Amino acid sequence: MTDRIYADNAATSFPKPPEVMTAMQNYAAHLGASAGRGAYREAIDAGELLTEGRRLLARLINTPSPDAIVYTHNCSMALNLAIHGILRDGDHVVATMMEHNSVLRPLHLLLAENRIRVTWVAADSRTGIVDPGAIRRALQPDTRLVCVNHGSNVTGTVQRIDAIGDICKSHGAAFLVDAAQTIGHMPIDVLAAHVDLLAFPGHKALMGPLGTGALYIRPGLESDLRPLLQGGTGSISEQPEQPEFMPDRFEPGSHNAIGIAGLVAALKWIESKGIDALTAHDRALSERFLDATASISGLKVFGPNDVAQRVAVFSVAVEGLEAAELAAILESEFGILTRPGIHCAPFAHKTIGTDQCGGTTRLSFGALNTPTDIDRCVAALNELAKSQAAANA
Ligand SMILES: Cc1ncc(COP(=O)(O)O)c(C=O)c1O
Repeated sequence: MTDRIYADNAATSFPKPPEVMTAMQNYAAHLGASAGRGAYREAIDAGELLTEGRRLLARLINTPSPDAIVYTHNCSMALNLAIHGILRDGDHVVATMMEHNSVLRPLHLLLAENRIRVTWVAADSRTGIVDPGAIRRALQPDTRLVCVNHGSNVTGTVQRIDAIGDICKSHGAAFLVDAAQTIGHMPIDVLAAHVDLLAFPGHKALMGPLGTGALYIRPGLESDLRPLLQGGTGSISEQPEQPEFMPDRFEPGSHNAIGIAGLVAALKWIESKGIDALTAHDRALSERFLDATASISGLKVFGPNDVAQRVAVFSVAVEGLEAAELAAILESEFGILTRPGIHCAPFAHKTIGTDQCGGTTRLSFGALNTPTDIDRCVAALNELAKSQAAANA
């Protein structure tokens, strides 16, 4: 990707650290086996790789229980497992207007079947921030689940999951956090924030390959979650019922072990950098982008101005250009890769007022973006905003 700037890290991170590719090649060339499916060394080693990944993830999110981590193929699958697994007919759910379709759509399916009730909690139209007090006010005696998108994939807004977790705990509602845009960018402590269910991808800021993700299930809650799928686990195979113990209860079928090999290498890379350093990098890029774009007239940048309230995911609009046009010009004339549209989060666009105009153009930066990348993106946006202003004059 010489001379091209990848600014679509909110979709998936690119490039990945070289160690990730090496680990996947090693797996493919030397291990190859399916974990738990054989008694020979390679199958045992593959099983140990899965365990190592669970240990690394448990340490990252601060749970003492690696087996509380269930591998999935992406964040959507983890969210579906959490939502469909925990909800029962008649339940009430609280969710925010900043949710991604991987939360909105499972909830809408259950709503359409008249099986649940949902209260949608509004976010501030400028910042995208949800007031934890509004979540408290939305709770009902039979609220079973509260769903919060930790980091918006539209505005970059980071919600106060610590405050919301306290509220859920004292009410007795399960707290589901979608950490798709925050894990790897900032510390997440499931114990401190009283998170019951944490869904996340392995392929975004965790720097692992596509096809990886996980759901953390607070120990003790697993028996309240119905598995979505049943099948072989390589354990208690004589029994026709799905095992009840973790993580086998939710992991039927062969794993994406080659992807998990990459994820394990990525998690070691993250540990070697340190999450605090990665947060500082994300905030430095955000600050540079916000400072430099603040004075560009004809350019709108959505979301919070305070870098402590956001990740480096920016929705922008240039006056006179549609989102898709802007993204096309950024690629063809400047080699900058962005994503235009509604970004699978229609209510978030409704919140910021961009649902009727084709959405926004999103630039999202990651651990391997540099200050120079930011400067080139800002220069391109500046040039386009100026030429649009001149054309409109
Ligand atoms: C906030 C949010 N939640 C969930 C998802 C779904 O993630 P995945 O593509 O891993 O299923 C995304 C993906 O962009 C996201 O941004």
